[in-house]
Amino acid sequence: VAHEIVIFGASGYSGLELLRWLARHPEVRVVGASSDRWTGQRVRDRAPTAPSELSFTTHDGALAEARSGRLAFLATPAETSLELVPKLVAKGVRVIDLSGAFRLERDDYPKWYGFEHTAPELLAEACYGLPEIDRSADLTRARLVANPGCYATASILAVAPLLAADLLTDAPLALDGKSGTTGAGRGVKEHLLYSEVAETIAAYRLGRHQHTPEIERALAKIAGRKVTVSLTAHLVPMRRGLLVSGYATPKHGVTAEAVATAVQKFYRDARFVRVKTERAAEPGPVAYTNQAEVQAMLDERAGLVLAFGALDNLVKGAAGQAIQNMNRMLGMPPELGLE
Ligand SMILES: NC(=O)c1ccc[n+]([C@@H]2O[C@H](COP(=O)([O-])OP(=O)(O)OC[C@H]3O[C@@H](n4cnc5c(N)ncnc54)[C@H](OP(=O)(O)O)[C@@H]3O)[C@@H](O)[C@H]2O)c1
Repeated sequence: VAHEIVIFGASGYSGLELLRWLARHPEVRVVGASSDRWTGQRVRDRAPTAPSELSFTTHDGALAEARSGRLAFLATPAETSLELVPKLVAKGVRVIDLSGAFRLERDDYPKWYGFEHTAPELLAEACYGLPEIDRSADLTRARLVANPGCYATASILAVAPLLAADLLTDAPLALDGKSGTTGAGRGVKEHLLYSEVAETIAAYRLGRHQHTPEIERALAKIAGRKVTVSLTAHLVPMRRGLLVSGYATPKHGVTAEAVATAVQKFYRDARFVRVKTERAAEPGPVAYTNQAEVQAMLDERAGLVLAFGALDNLVKGAAGQAIQNMNRMLGMPPELGLE
């Protein structure tokens, strides 16, 4: 019997991407898709491979119909996830939240997300789902998985091997991220109009991007010490894809070979991370896939380690990684439905 899945926020970029991928998954069936703006419309008209009988319901309707044993993906704004998660968990629904509502420490929320966290027990319980980093984590009993952010995934994948091999000093780490416009969601916003974004590039949320504390938290866990990050995000005129270029200070005596070996070793068995050596990590070749590319090298003259992470923000950066986590929660092979 197929596992029953509900998607909240199915009309957004991440929600639509979930619909597309889940339609191909052999062990699950989407039984609910919520959107207030498209309520009543056939899901197939928007996502051609979705089950033919499915229509969009209101968010309230989807919540009312949620029942124990089902699994819900929340592809909703963080404030909405914060409201929905306690209600769904109380009904016995297991949740994968794609928003940032369950990724940080409680004290971080007012500063980085602009709200007080109102579900501290669930926040403490939530598992951070970055499968290539937390490989031994057992999610088969997890009630709530926080799916990592897109910039966070690329950044952490790029830098984790260097910290795991103890190659970096504790100097702050500079992360330079560039994302296509789907990263900002499909809501109508003036600064995302074609005329505003075409043929230019703009940095945004300088020194205050909300993925900063998420990256610091994950990297600190790997390093076993505090890690300070400065993340600059840029909007680039492409639809999907994201590249993070990291600049880090190596410890004295670190060699080019040590850097290369650390990355190769860290991802030896990782099905969804490809280590680039000759050509640079780049989002174009991995668009529409759950694959990430990473690369690291020592710039000996400047005394810096350069680390790169590239992925599709809607797949490995959102829906694909969420399905990896679903597979882990349901005890299925991690790559099922994602090849
Ligand atoms: N885009 C990315 O690359 C990306 C990557 C990783 C994580 N994320 C995260 O995933 C979540 C969704 O992002 P997105 O870019 O897919 O957003 P989006 O395209 O702007 O879509 C937002 C979705 O949320 C729904 N929604 C809005 N307000 C709601 C409410 N009050 N209650 C319930 N649903 C509501 C919308 O449904 P209606 O039809 O009712 O408007 C829509 O389906 C966000 O938390 C985002 O941070 C996004």
